[in-house]
Amino acid sequence: MLLVGSTGLGALYQADCLEVLATIPNASVHTVFADPPFNLGKDYGRNGSDTLRENDYLAWCHEWLQQSCRVLVPGGALFVHNLPKWLIPIANFLDAAGMHFKHWIAIHKPTSLPIPNRLCPSHYGLLYYIKGPRPRLFNRDAVRVPIRKCRHCDRDVKDYGGHKKRLNPKGLNLSDVWDDVPPVRHRKYKSREANELAPIVLERVVRLTTRRGDVVFDPFAGSGTTAYVAERLGRRWICCDVNDCSPAKHRLEAITTVRAEIEHCVNGRVPRAFSSLVKATPVKSRQDAPERLRQTSQTKLRVAGEF
Ligand SMILES: C[S@@+](CC[C@H](N)C(=O)[O-])C[C@H]1O[C@@H](n2cnc3c(N)ncnc32)[C@H](O)[C@@H]1O
Repeated sequence: MLLVGSTGLGALYQADCLEVLATIPNASVHTVFADPPFNLGKDYGRNGSDTLRENDYLAWCHEWLQQSCRVLVPGGALFVHNLPKWLIPIANFLDAAGMHFKHWIAIHKPTSLPIPNRLCPSHYGLLYYIKGPRPRLFNRDAVRVPIRKCRHCDRDVKDYGGHKKRLNPKGLNLSDVWDDVPPVRHRKYKSREANELAPIVLERVVRLTTRRGDVVFDPFAGSGTTAYVAERLGRRWICCDVNDCSPAKHRLEAITTVRAEIEHCVNGRVPRAFSSLVKATPVKSRQDAPERLRQTSQTKLRVAGEF
């Protein structure tokens, strides 16, 4: 078990998840997020196999699921991202293990190739289970979504049965169909060759089920999306991957760089990362330029918010 990166909030290990789980005490993690290999024959690196026989794959899943349930605090949340085909036996296992079903979230997959004799598979599933009958935290307000507008005419997409005035001004209740998750395909946005999840998935999971200072565990860190989001949102985290962890490590280092730049800003300078925004700000006159610069950096700081 190799510690490859750490911050004040978390630790990233290059290790088998079962090895890391064995070191985590009972009832010490608030949320587990697991995005394991889907047994589709992908190449994640030298360690671990993504081409197991069905029974072996499920037996392996049961091992890390059982350990994940053990480390959760009462009321803690377990999320498992996978194909519907695997989530059905996984859900059966979790039911039998005494976990409580909360949601099956469908994450829309906009592009998928047609498969002979099958409907076009257009979603991944995200199982959401609770340890015990009640969640310790279910912060719906933290994940509300804005009212959707048509991008052409800017009108509301739905009429809400004429009851728009009664809608919560903080936004709509998040549904269990997430059709706004972009696939992370373009090289420009990817941290590594292999697949990775869009941060919005983890932002929702983390905000919905944890508070600042809570602990999030991800046994299959990959490009480090969970660590990246937890770190930005001020949650403690433990992440591991049996293969190369350098993409995850680099992502975490990027956060440290932005934080350092924000500190410069707080000390009165405009951070480099925000300089393009500052340049784009129209300056009415020489006198109001410093004030505008200050406001712009403050706005950007608010946007950067949780860095
Ligand atoms: C689907 S990817 C996770 C992607 C990740 N959620 C992200 O956003 O980048 C699955 C990862 O599990 C890792 N893995 C496979 N077997 C493992 C094991 N036994 N222990 C830890 N990690 C493992 C693979 O190396 C791969 O990076």
